[in-house]
Amino acid sequence: MTVQEFGKLPNGETVQLFTLRNKNGVETAITNYGGIIVTLKTFDGKGLLADVALGFETLAGYLGKHPYFGAIIGRYGNRIGKARFTIDGVTYTLAKNDGENSLHGGNEGFDRKLWKARTESGPDSQTLVLSYTSPDGEEGYPGTLETEVRYTLRDDDTFRIDYLAKTDKKTVVNLTNHTYFNLAGQGNGDILNHEIQINASRFTPVDEGLIPTGELRPVDGTPFDFRKPVRIGARIDADDEQIRRGRGYDHNFVLDREGEGLSFAARVTEPSTGRVLEVWTTEPGMQFYTGNFLDGTITGKAGKVYPRRSGFCLETQHFPDSPNQPSFPSTLLEPGKEYRSTTLWKFLTAQPRK
Ligand code: BGC
Repeated sequence: MTVQEFGKLPNGETVQLFTLRNKNGVETAITNYGGIIVTLKTFDGKGLLADVALGFETLAGYLGKHPYFGAIIGRYGNRIGKARFTIDGVTYTLAKNDGENSLHGGNEGFDRKLWKARTESGPDSQTLVLSYTSPDGEEGYPGTLETEVRYTLRDDDTFRIDYLAKTDKKTVVNLTNHTYFNLAGQGNGDILNHEIQINASRFTPVDEGLIPTGELRPVDGTPFDFRKPVRIGARIDADDEQIRRGRGYDHNFVLDREGEGLSFAARVTEPSTGRVLEVWTTEPGMQFYTGNFLDGTITGKAGKVYPRRSGFCLETQHFPDSPNQPSFPSTLLEPGKEYRSTTLWKFLTAQPRK
């Protein structure tokens, strides 16, 4: 594990970049600004490494406007309808940073905080431990929230993320990571030829502002049925109201979980390279977002531009707008209780198909 300076914030604080490399050579660089995964180098079916995460080479890129590349999302991943919620009769108001709604924690979410960092190493793994205390009332959320995110790279080519939070007042929490993957290598075209399998029999359809309607809709007979592997591009422009609202896929899937603990969520294969990503999680949901809002105006690493649908996100999470949807699994966190969430990204390989 190595540490270097990544740059300075406008207020003069120093930002660090940590590089973790496992015994096989899988490597990731992570900054304590926003807990952003800056690079993620994994092997293809022929043993070649490529960086599969979209992002920037310099801190300046991340300080500018960008769609949450690689970042920790908090306090609340995805949307809260009308940017408000009520706990025990008290209504809390958030910034409307996405039409009428609140998205990804507000104007200055966890993706824009400088996290405290320390490192740990085990016999078969290395861990970057990031912590941040969000003050009571920050971005409109009640309670002082003590947050810890542990990023672990293991020698079995698994990348593990553990989230932990504690509060001193009742609040809502939903943490995730917003890495955009392109398993052909970042900047190498769109992701439409990737094949995806999602372990979900239902999804949460949305209104025009991408707020769930409350329904858990079966995927049967819809472009959202990924229970068997399908090309991402096969139905992404289908004549379907939900596809139109998302401008492609931008939906929360209700995972078919088996008991408590880590459960299989998704498997993505890039056929030309044989790179495979499996996602396992303790969460009940996962946002499958196909980078529909990328538009080629951002230049990322190695001078590559990121056109529409050149990356996909698999954001493990509780369902969007849960604080306003009593029938959804609860995102309420009470003092004395712990918020815990774990997600694994397993990097595997298959025989390249061309
Ligand atoms: C959301 C998209 C949003 C994107 C931000 C995703 O999690 O579901 O609607 O545009 O994040 O880049």
